[in-house]
Amino acid sequence: MATRPFLIYGAGGHAREVLGLARVSLNMEPAVLLDDFNPCRTVSNIEVITYADALTRFAGADILIAVGDTPARKRLYLRAVSDGFTPLTLRAPGVWISSNASVGRGSQIFFGTAISENVVIGENVIINFHCSLSHDVTIGDHCTLAPRVTCAGNVAIESGATIGVGATIINGSAQKPLKIGKNAFIGAGSLVIADVAAETVVAGVPARPLKSRA
Ligand SMILES: CC(C)(COP(=O)(O)OP(=O)(O)OC[C@H]1O[C@@H](n2cnc3c(N)ncnc32)[C@H](O)[C@@H]1OP(=O)(O)O)[C@@H](O)C(=O)NCCC(=O)NCCS
Repeated sequence: MATRPFLIYGAGGHAREVLGLARVSLNMEPAVLLDDFNPCRTVSNIEVITYADALTRFAGADILIAVGDTPARKRLYLRAVSDGFTPLTLRAPGVWISSNASVGRGSQIFFGTAISENVVIGENVIINFHCSLSHDVTIGDHCTLAPRVTCAGNVAIESGATIGVGATIINGSAQKPLKIGKNAFIGAGSLVIADVAAETVVAGVPARPLKSRA
């Protein structure tokens, strides 16, 4: 349970989901929500203020970065850490995490997810509803896994990648883990059967490159 005030950075759809997750896993209400573009209102009866206001009113507080967009969440997380806020890690009740798996600070693990043997999850990662991560999967910092992503064993997802709703990633082996490159984007419903280059958008069954993000 959190023992001191915490803030949620974001006030949109994902933030409301994080609020629900925080209520059940921390058993506390956030002090405020942060929205730099639309403050001075309430969401779910909680005051919304700007980040600049939070710096003066809640310096050094605990914080949850609750923005679904991967590059934006990375930017906000790094700024909050460098300004002295402390990221909280959330794990929904009932989520199974193997005793030899690890979850980095600031990451959010939503309901219905299973995290198996020797899985390593970095910082500021979202693992959304009903994901399945089999043995020897690594997820880099700031990645986003949308609902119902399935990673078979031996998959390495590099930092800043986004995996769309219902995507399935297979074909890694202990000798050659399947690699999703840095900042890659996997389209919803894709079946990934081969490495994906960094900064590349892929989609389809099997997944094929659509365009570059660079
Ligand atoms: C992959 C994706 C990013 C592409 O978006 P986009 O760049 O706007 O691409 P477009 O919608 O213009 O589609 C381009 C082509 O790719 C195809 N395509 C797009 N998404 C696809 C998908 N998920 N699977 C298969 N084909 C797809 C389109 O049919 C189109 O084909 P065409 O050129 O033959 O007509 C997007 O469709 C997607 O899947 N987003 C993920 C949504 C999601 O899971 N959100 C949660 C994130 S946390």
